[in-house]
Amino acid sequence: MGVCWSTKGKAVNPVFSATSSGADSKSRSKGFGGISRGTSHTSLASLSLTPRSEGEILQSANVKSFTFNELRCATRNFRPDSVLGEGGFGSVFKGWIDEHSLSPTKAGTGMVIAVKRLNQEGFQGHREWLAEVNYLGQLHHPNLVKLIGYCLEDDHRLLVYEFLPRGSLENHLFRRGSCFQPLSWNLRMSVALGAARGLAFLHDAETSVIYRDFKTSNILLDTNYKAKLSDFGLAKDGPTGDKSHVSTRIMGTYGYAAPEYLATGHLTAKSDVYSFGVVLLELLSGRRSLDKNRPSGEHNLVEWARPYLMSKRKIFRVLDSRLEGQYSLVGAQKTASLALQCLSAEGRLRPTMKEVVSALQQVQPIKDAERTTHVKHAQSFSHVPELIQRRSIEGGSLKETYPRPSISMLN
Ligand SMILES: Nc1ncnc2c1ncn2[C@@H]1O[C@H](COP(=O)(O)OP(=O)(O)OP(=O)(O)O)[C@@H](O)[C@H]1O
Ligand SMILES: [Mg+2]
Repeated sequence: MGVCWSTKGKAVNPVFSATSSGADSKSRSKGFGGISRGTSHTSLASLSLTPRSEGEILQSANVKSFTFNELRCATRNFRPDSVLGEGGFGSVFKGWIDEHSLSPTKAGTGMVIAVKRLNQEGFQGHREWLAEVNYLGQLHHPNLVKLIGYCLEDDHRLLVYEFLPRGSLENHLFRRGSCFQPLSWNLRMSVALGAARGLAFLHDAETSVIYRDFKTSNILLDTNYKAKLSDFGLAKDGPTGDKSHVSTRIMGTYGYAAPEYLATGHLTAKSDVYSFGVVLLELLSGRRSLDKNRPSGEHNLVEWARPYLMSKRKIFRVLDSRLEGQYSLVGAQKTASLALQCLSAEGRLRPTMKEVVSALQQVQPIKDAERTTHVKHAQSFSHVPELIQRRSIEGGSLKETYPRPSISMLN
């Protein structure tokens, strides 16, 4: 291992035959910018609807092609104690590379990276790996995680990302322990806004991109708790022309998928808006979208919370007790009302993500400052006027993933 970081592995840029392509996504043209390490510019893809082969996708992605040996060295042979987390795709390891040459460096020097290693066999894993390179290789935005590179060598499939030191929103909201203090109200609102901006950016691309897997584990946080969307393995190009939806196999995560998508497989940007509503509700309540440890009647967060969201007087029943009353009451009411709109049964009644961004801007601490009433749980509410699963399950069998939902083929 000692020689690892001095080894300049040859960066192979593999070219694969179109027949081995696993991408089910439409392609977009090679485009804008290079890999924008250290920059935070926003790029919108100039999209082409010409389907591309795997080789074209890999060659046009503005990211580095790593050798497996380089990533083995960068992660100290995928040391178990450097595992950052595990998901349906595989394990994620912490590693180090030189900021300029992107060659592996000694642990603790250079730039920190997160290396995701596919441990699942089969076509679906490869397809998600390729979709991730396809989308993140071209879409750049401050609220999307940066893809630095990939490795495809023999059976190895890896993805290399910027390292987000605070990990996933899921950990911050639901993990207990000294590492995870409850997120403050202000941070929750700022995370919601950042994630909303990421989704709005995807939907507003020239050909909109539907993310399809919006959930707390896919929202990563940087040092300043800025939210970045990760995991584009299920992303799809949105409908074009006069089409209202794209037809898909039903993929996603239990507890987050929109009802009409589950029923029909018809995917629209409004499916993402529903998932956003679920996450907003998780931020408000500190409860998981599905939790069978709760009393019966409270397993499904949306079903349980909906009646309370409809009443300003009852909203406090939904709010996370770990906030200890430290929130803006007006902000909480507006946010609950927004969540309710996002969770409308009919997609057309849900706001666009652009509208969600505007609404969330109104409840950010600075804008809200004059109206902010920090209320203590005990006093508050009697005066408030009334008003206003992972992995494809081929063959269609349902797989309950509990307590942590994961991507699944949902029917
Ligand atoms: N770029 C990153 N920086 C820091 N930690 C990361 C990064 N990417 C992933 N992680 C950590 O690794 C965990 C696993 O990520 P992964 O995307 O593989 O699975 P998941 O999102 O948790 O689940 P699923 O497979 O259902 O999407 C994340 O929850 C997060 O804690
Ligand atoms: Mg993920």
